[in-house]
Amino acid sequence: MKQRIYLDHGATSFPKAPGCVRAMADFMEHSAGNPGRGGHHWTIAASRLIEAAREDIAELLGADPERTLLGPGATFWLNTLLHSSLHSGSRVLLSSLEHNAVMRPLRALQERRNIEVEILDGDPETGVPSVSEVLDVLGRREADLLILSHASNVSGAVLPVEEIAEAVAPIPVIVDGAQAAGAIPFDFSSAPIAAYVCSGHKGLLGPPGTGVLLLGPGFSPEPIIRGGTGSRSESEEMPEFLPDRLEAGTPNGAGIAGLGASCRWMAERGVETLAEHERRLALILASGLQAIPGVRLPGFDPASRRTGVLSFVVQGQDTGELAGWLDRERGIALRAGLHCAPAAHRRLGTFPGGTLRAGIGPFNTTDEIERLVESIETAVERGIE
Ligand SMILES: Cc1ncc(COP(=O)(O)O)c(C=O)c1O
Repeated sequence: MKQRIYLDHGATSFPKAPGCVRAMADFMEHSAGNPGRGGHHWTIAASRLIEAAREDIAELLGADPERTLLGPGATFWLNTLLHSSLHSGSRVLLSSLEHNAVMRPLRALQERRNIEVEILDGDPETGVPSVSEVLDVLGRREADLLILSHASNVSGAVLPVEEIAEAVAPIPVIVDGAQAAGAIPFDFSSAPIAAYVCSGHKGLLGPPGTGVLLLGPGFSPEPIIRGGTGSRSESEEMPEFLPDRLEAGTPNGAGIAGLGASCRWMAERGVETLAEHERRLALILASGLQAIPGVRLPGFDPASRRTGVLSFVVQGQDTGELAGWLDRERGIALRAGLHCAPAAHRRLGTFPGGTLRAGIGPFNTTDEIERLVESIETAVERGIE
């Protein structure tokens, strides 16, 4: 078998950014005190590394370091935001492209707090909502909160979250940027968004078990996890100030150090350059696949803003079996199925079979994309065993 090809960046990035693994090892070997707890050499070293990483992460995303919160993943921060913002009778609008990290907490809150949830139809082909659709829906009935993905984890389509947030102000908009952070250029400081959630291990090229919450001015969610922070230890209440208010418990220092190093590398390369590379490869892949009889690209719009994630289906082929064959016979790693976004597949007409999803990252090459296209051609012409 030729060299293996990793095309599953929508699930998690691999390999990580140069410098990430070294920074994690350095933290573990030299600085692994408990940050903010006590005053000895190792606790100070850990605090310094974590605060330096926080600044690098905030810098890349255009955020205020004090309002850049570090935690275990996008799922954790989305749960925190939804549980702390929605109360009995609250009404929330969302797109049909949302991930289960949004759908499942909302379902639980519908049952437990009787919140009201309305899913926007979006464009019939892509599911992407427009400003006018959102304003129409709000014109019929107000809402307390909007939650929107910045980019679909199924089709790679980018949603106009900044335009929508501007149009619906002062209703707060929470953005799930798990698929967008690091994958498309973004400056939080100029976005009228209440809260922006990033996954550390996807487009930001950091380690698993890391995620970032950016808070806009004036948006202060309640913590859902309470515990030690190393500060105000005499009080049984969580401190009022950030980041401590939302960061109880010993942080993932190695993960944060790794994520900081990844963000530094991304800042050097430039998110714009990396994003353009991924988009260019996605368009090469799309046109190669579209030329194969029986291959469809649900939700694909060549003219729209997009990430390097692209879904396709091959007529008459089970997505799981085809992904297994690609891995076994061709050494190509893709993800098949529903990608934790069943509502998106319902909207795109690919439920319950799902799609094959290619997730292109900064280290993929044109050659690798051509190998995928050639493999799908072979699968269509000769079948798979
Ligand atoms: C759109 C979207 N939101 C949220 C998540 C959850 O991210 P994390 O793994 O950081 O919890 C994912 C990851 O699959 C995702 O694609």
